[in-house]
Amino acid sequence: MTKEEIILANRQYLFPSVFHYFKTPLVIDHAKDQYVWDADGNQYLDFFGGIVTVSVGHCNETVNAKVHAQIDKLWHVSTVFANEPQAALAKRVAGITPSGALTKSFFTNSGTEANEAAILAARCYTGNSEIIALRHSYHGRSAMAMTLTGQSSWRLGPPLTAGIVHTHNAYCYRCPFGLQYPDCGVKCAQDVEDVIRTTTSGRVAGFIAEPIQGVGGFITPPKEFFPIIDKIVRNYGGVFISDEVQTAWGRTGDRWFGIEQWGVMPDIITSAKGFANGSPVGLTVARPEIADAMKGVTISTFGGNPVTATAAKAVIDFIDDHNLASNAAVVGGYLREKLEGLKDKYDIIGDVRGMGLMQALELVEDRKTKTPAVAATAQLMEAARENKLLIGKGGTFGNCIRITPPLNISKADVDEAIVRLDSSFAAVASMMKVSHG
Ligand SMILES: Cc1ncc(COP(=O)(O)O)c(C=O)c1O
Repeated sequence: MTKEEIILANRQYLFPSVFHYFKTPLVIDHAKDQYVWDADGNQYLDFFGGIVTVSVGHCNETVNAKVHAQIDKLWHVSTVFANEPQAALAKRVAGITPSGALTKSFFTNSGTEANEAAILAARCYTGNSEIIALRHSYHGRSAMAMTLTGQSSWRLGPPLTAGIVHTHNAYCYRCPFGLQYPDCGVKCAQDVEDVIRTTTSGRVAGFIAEPIQGVGGFITPPKEFFPIIDKIVRNYGGVFISDEVQTAWGRTGDRWFGIEQWGVMPDIITSAKGFANGSPVGLTVARPEIADAMKGVTISTFGGNPVTATAAKAVIDFIDDHNLASNAAVVGGYLREKLEGLKDKYDIIGDVRGMGLMQALELVEDRKTKTPAVAATAQLMEAARENKLLIGKGGTFGNCIRITPPLNISKADVDEAIVRLDSSFAAVASMMKVSHG
């Protein structure tokens, strides 16, 4: 198919809700390591890593070799038959969860399903049904996951499911209470008790949060936030669910899981995306007594698929063997410095935030009013494409740039990305100058 035929077929044969970045969709043809090539043969530096999925580089040779071997050995059996790749992956995951305490896994195909299973397990275990989620969150596309999601633009269709309420996140750049950290006393976290008392039955099944909100624009709470909430939620009978679809596998630096940066022991962790470098795998891993509370039988046709389970274990091994969590801390710190440098240069950058190789820029029209620079964010995306740099967009207001390159990039890759980002900001600044006369 030609590039034009691909774009046309997308328009004709896909649900129109399947949106693409850019005014003219970018058709990707192939990829290797930190680079992708479009249908015209142009090479791009991929600083979005697919969509926060390519943890160890596109078409990683070590991972792919193991996947190729597995495809020719056993492709599919479903969860009703035991197979080695699923068992080996479950054992590997159990060995690296915080304190080795989350030992039982349920594998599915996506982050959405992983969260469905987590909420079900929390409800079965506690006997309660109500769930507390965070505003600005994103948890997936099923009716339940859209209800967990705290952004109207991702909640499609008629009213969703019951039993879920939303509390404030620590969006310090736009504090919902108009306060300033640390003088605020982390009021947003303390408020959870009020939320439980006033908007639930007082008996909750659990709290679910992304340690750093991905789609929400990498909102990164202060260190006290999750420990305070953890304590409150436990007092009301709930468990702590960490949605690590974006933050797991070393992305935040030095730790396997994002929530470990806050020193909280979660009861359930969910993941997907970077878990298998882009192959479809969803993970729900829980303390054994929680997994055991899901009585009865269940099945996942593609869950624990031998090929994708092989990919996921190969990714974990690769991250471990190459110390990529510490690379994420070191190269991520370097990236952060460079982004702060861009903030000094361009007024449009209101906030730089994130951890490790998960960094975001929030763009504003004016640093005092903090009016989201929505149009300029779209322009920056187009300019970065022109400069052959792929970055992500996000944020509740559509004004955040998300940067999540593969975990095995070097400082030289960061230098190259910053040159391209700098040129892109310069292009946007000159466009804005022209439009303001
Ligand atoms: C934090 C988080 N949870 C859940 C999901 C849903 O994952 P999936 O698209 O694999 O269903 C996403 C997807 O972006 C996510 O970022």
